[in-house]
Amino acid sequence: MGTGILCRMSTATWTSSGHLLGLEGLTREQLHSILDDAESFLPAVQGITDMGDVLSGRVVANLFLENSTRTRVSFSVAARRLGADVVDLLGSTSSASKGESLVDTATNIAAMGVDGLVVRCSESGGAALIAEHVNIPVLNAGDGRHEHPTQGLLDLLTVTRHLDRRDLDDVTVAIVGDIASSRVARSNIHSLTTCGANVLLVGPESLVPTEFESMVSPGPGSGTVRISHDLDAVLDQIDIIMMLRVQYERHDGEGMPDDYRERFGLDVQRADRLGPGVPVLHPGPINRGFELAHEVADGERSLILEQVTNGVAVRMAALAGLLG
Ligand code: CP
Repeated sequence: MGTGILCRMSTATWTSSGHLLGLEGLTREQLHSILDDAESFLPAVQGITDMGDVLSGRVVANLFLENSTRTRVSFSVAARRLGADVVDLLGSTSSASKGESLVDTATNIAAMGVDGLVVRCSESGGAALIAEHVNIPVLNAGDGRHEHPTQGLLDLLTVTRHLDRRDLDDVTVAIVGDIASSRVARSNIHSLTTCGANVLLVGPESLVPTEFESMVSPGPGSGTVRISHDLDAVLDQIDIIMMLRVQYERHDGEGMPDDYRERFGLDVQRADRLGPGVPVLHPGPINRGFELAHEVADGERSLILEQVTNGVAVRMAALAGLLG
């Protein structure tokens, strides 16, 4: 199976640049191909198959200058499942905390001979900036408010596996919450609309800028982006619902209505008004009891842990595709 995956996958499948910086601009065919590859890695994630020779002898450096649980561990597990060694550099223990620049930090790690850099940083466009200065693949693990491409891909894999189809024409996906600050929302808007889904952005006026409606250019087969400030009014239009965390670290709560939870939180009563079988996703970390009730997060509709598992497969495919 491994040989097949690697023959089919090429760097160009991911991006022509040799990096994974964002999902904007990827075609539907590229996204489908990536999903096929990621799905092929699921047995290895579950320990059923051994892919430990794919990146044997390679070193992947995690450069995480913002906190992370899922993304960093998921990239580490993915790299190790492919046989690579992993080194971690965290913001709090790095010389970035002494004022070293993002580019200096990255070029120094690259100069040590690592084979790929996984980067999380607070600067929007930070991963692309690093990619201009190093000659190894850069994988964006979330850069400020710009993009979180592997999250967008794992969400797409989760949605398409749940619906058992790759094309999402006529599917309405609601993304609810702090859209303005969300790199997850941006990556998802690009990938979901490219696959044909209609994206409904839901949240208070202060956290859902109207510019988002023109983020994607309408084209043949492409989905649309609409905005609603009334979650209750659109519950019956939703096929898939993605809840987002309010990102206080990016705006200190400025623009947050006092009644946010009452208007936009997915509590049990609201979840009961969704159509039967409408699944609930959340990229994590969850503010339990705020944007998402415990019962819903752990309930039958929740695909949250499936997202996490799919994330390892997506990251294995990305590392194999770009470093293999
Ligand atoms: N979804 C996500 O990016 O989670 P972490 O911040 O824990 O990596």
